Amino acid sequence: MGKIDKASKVRLVQAAAGARNRAVAPYSKFKVGAAWLTRNGEIISGANVESASYGLTCCAERVALFSALTGGKRQLIALAVVARTPRGPMPCGACRQLLAEYAPAARIWVADSRRPGKIREFTVQELLPAAFVLP
Ligand code: THU
Repeated sequence: MGKIDKASKVRLVQAAAGARNRAVAPYSKFKVGAAWLTRNGEIISGANVESASYGLTCCAERVALFSALTGGKRQLIALAVVARTPRGPMPCGACRQLLAEYAPAARIWVADSRRPGKIREFTVQELLPAAFVLP
């Protein structure tokens, strides 16, 4: 997967920051926004949605991923995740498993909503080495 230009990166982080404002997080109050970039330059975003039955909560990364996949977008080349937290929010273990399955070559960009220009980058391999796959 080739280099992605800086403008696309900034645009994706902005989309994640915008999605974050649509988070439904009445319990934790911790709002997270995520945005996927497709090979065609399309952006699909989502935010976390919480439940009174706490374990049913779905992370922003997965809300956005399921939206992309069920919208027919499968060529996912980058993910931006934004929350108000120092250095940006790291995807949880459950989300990492799905990243390894559906976007193994994607770059993962994380940023603090207060410093959207300060973007940290990871590979899926870095986040989940030796991922589970079905035999
Ligand atoms: N959350 C995400 O949406 N993404 C992450 O990467 C970490 C956690 C959400 C789940 C829950 O709604 C809130 O953040 C607090 O854990």
